[in-house]
Amino acid sequence: MESKIKNRRDFLKEMGVYASSTAFLASIPWLDAFAQENGKNVAASDRVRIAVIGVGSRGRALLMNLQQVENVEIVAVCDNYEPHYSRAIELTDGKAKAFYDHKKMIDAVKDIDAVVVATPLHEHAHIVVDCLNADIHVFCEKAMARTLVDTKLMADTAIAKGKILQIGQQRLFNPVYLNALERVRAGEIGQITQVRAYWHRNADWRRPVPSPELERKINWRMYNEYSGGLMTELAAHQVQVANWYIDKVPTQVMGSGSICFWKDGREVYDHVALVYDYPDGSKCTYDSMIANKHHGLEEQIMGNLGTIEPEINRIYSENPPQAPGIRQLVHDIESSIFDVIPIGGATWIPETAVQYRGDVIAPYENNDSFLQFVGFAKAVKNNKPYPNLLREGYHATIAVLLGLQAMDTNEIVAWPAEYVMEKDV
Ligand SMILES: NC(=O)c1ccc[n+]([C@@H]2O[C@H](COP(=O)([O-])OP(=O)(O)OC[C@H]3O[C@@H](n4cnc5c(N)ncnc54)[C@H](O)[C@@H]3O)[C@@H](O)[C@H]2O)c1
Repeated sequence: MESKIKNRRDFLKEMGVYASSTAFLASIPWLDAFAQENGKNVAASDRVRIAVIGVGSRGRALLMNLQQVENVEIVAVCDNYEPHYSRAIELTDGKAKAFYDHKKMIDAVKDIDAVVVATPLHEHAHIVVDCLNADIHVFCEKAMARTLVDTKLMADTAIAKGKILQIGQQRLFNPVYLNALERVRAGEIGQITQVRAYWHRNADWRRPVPSPELERKINWRMYNEYSGGLMTELAAHQVQVANWYIDKVPTQVMGSGSICFWKDGREVYDHVALVYDYPDGSKCTYDSMIANKHHGLEEQIMGNLGTIEPEINRIYSENPPQAPGIRQLVHDIESSIFDVIPIGGATWIPETAVQYRGDVIAPYENNDSFLQFVGFAKAVKNNKPYPNLLREGYHATIAVLLGLQAMDTNEIVAWPAEYVMEKDV
């Protein structure tokens, strides 16, 4: 317990470092929450009263993160599946009121300030819109919705009502990503021309089902009606990073998707590859598969002066300093293992990857899923959305849904003008 509290304070201190830079704060307004953080307890009347809707795998993790946020009180939980409903009550020691239906919850608990929605994707839009219309602030897990129309409806409703709609893109609150972004904006890796992102796993993605009629409820990720598969589950995180770092909205996307390995009755692709084009000619190339995990996941942010790999917390210069003596010797020995001495001299040397480990971006142990709630709670307390935060989640969802459309139709899909959210909305 002691170490948890220490870490929590450390996280806040780390975030405060970014929040103290005025120029950076202007481009990342949600860091303002950490500038104001003073670590003091707040009066009970200042508490933010939150309900969690959808307390499955992610919802439970979010609930536990929320319980660590100083001024948050979990007043209600809601889940329409009995085993998860009961576990949610246990997790709150029976202190939260429990419901099977979010509308009944909204009617019964009058002083909810905000909800956290972690239901399956197709169940986001109607719940979020009901809550916003009841004047309740919302944190909703990514991706926003299963369709473009529902995604826009959620965003439009939040803006029209002046309510917070924060999407669960936790990298936006991650100190490593923030430090790297600050360095990008300062020109350290030059002009970004490509983000090469991928997420590879080796698992069927199935969950055990207690009885056959629950298959679609438990394994909703497998079915097109409820899920966009790898795109809405994984790519949403990484395409958000690409848009954020390139600081533009893509103009078009092309792609190819297939069910390549897990031919077990699922409907969603188990293998996708796409290219997103940006107006300045830069690209995000993206692929995801679940039949090989050797390369894991990364967003390789490539500029003419350097590269960033935030998932492994490293930054590389295009012109690294010469390795000192002993490292040079090791390098030479390793090189001779692979090099072939051509007869008559080399005419071409293959451009194999540079075997240089770069530098750590930021020495952080972080929990961005917790930090995003510190920001959310502060916004709710201030009764005011952070400019541009919804925009990030919104464009990430539109991007992955357009990517799905490109793969389903086998056509290049242009980004429709009506799905561009301007800055500072
Ligand atoms: N940000 C992240 O890193 C991250 C990680 C995992 C999952 N997620 C997202 O979290 C969401 C949930 O994923 P999960 O893996 O927890 O799914 P899950 O199936 O484990 O949990 C969903 C829960 O919602 C409940 N539910 C369904 N419809 C409901 C309704 N109408 N009212 C109340 N409860 C309802 C289900 O009974 C279940 O308990 C998804 O949007 C997913 O993309 C985000």
